[in-house]
Amino acid sequence: DRSFKVALLGAGTVGSQVARILTEDAEELASRIGSRPELIGIAVRDTTAARDTTVDAALYTTDAEALIDAADVVIELTGGIEPARTRILRALSGGAAVVTGNKALLAKHGTELQRAADAAGVQLSYEAAVAGAIPILRPLRDSLAGDRITRVLGIMNGTTNFILDAMDSTGAQFDDALAEAQRLGYAEADPTADVEGHDAAAKAAIVASLAFHSEFTIDDVHCEGIREISADDVAAAQADGYVIKLLAVCELDGEGVNIRVHPTLIPRKHPLASVRDAYNAVFVESRDAGELMFYGPGAGGAPTASAVMGDFVTLSRRKVLGGPAIPDQSHRNLEATSLSRV
Ligand code: HSE
Repeated sequence: DRSFKVALLGAGTVGSQVARILTEDAEELASRIGSRPELIGIAVRDTTAARDTTVDAALYTTDAEALIDAADVVIELTGGIEPARTRILRALSGGAAVVTGNKALLAKHGTELQRAADAAGVQLSYEAAVAGAIPILRPLRDSLAGDRITRVLGIMNGTTNFILDAMDSTGAQFDDALAEAQRLGYAEADPTADVEGHDAAAKAAIVASLAFHSEFTIDDVHCEGIREISADDVAAAQADGYVIKLLAVCELDGEGVNIRVHPTLIPRKHPLASVRDAYNAVFVESRDAGELMFYGPGAGGAPTASAVMGDFVTLSRRKVLGGPAIPDQSHRNLEATSLSRV
């Protein structure tokens, strides 16, 4: 029975969900990958903090470096630039594949990390870094690679969409809506990153880099948050048939690319206007495909963990099998269904 070693860095909102899935779905993952992923440890700052009881408490450690050095795959979900950057570089240069959801890091040092992965001949995957559960990076990088993308419009921060939607639909106060978004696990550890637009700006830089086959960092993004949006602004927009959304815009502008994040008036009939709660949506305009919209939960533990696990299974399969896996047939027991409603 073949197996490989997995190190998890971080046990926060997303990390704890990934630990749960790796533990609870161990059998199914092994069959889907073709080799058994063995979670060898979870690096945290403080091993005494209250943790999920579905995960073996002995897995928690403060020695991230030892864990990384022993792993075949490292899943980094700590966030922030350091020590995440140094740890990911250590993992890659040691030959481990890396999955990360660290948008702030990728938007600053994405090229450095990708070069390190290429030099070591290992995979670096980060679908979870943008728009939570929504598969958007792979479509931009792979599915649309032969097309010419002209513009990407994205609601790519769940917290601010939650706040603006609450203000629009229930007349909620900004601070109450923010507190609720924090309670639901949507906001960053420091919610300023959400409210000031920096989180969306980081995601915009990542999206623009893939959409336009160039290197952009967060420093290339003009950024304005939603702190100044008042109940009166929301009501005035409503009266005129608009809704206010924090929009990331990445567009070809003459010879260059313009990337910006700011509150935007969206006509109520535009598909982006219907994006509620902490949902995200990314609207892609391209020469040949035309208009595409990707929609789904943009924040939160389990939805973001879904994206992490997708990357994990994909690169583990490649590592183990050197190619696509044969379906494991686990759901072959089909039942006949009659026409039904969804
Ligand atoms: N704080 C982020 C958001 C989490 O609200 O969208 C997902 O990146």
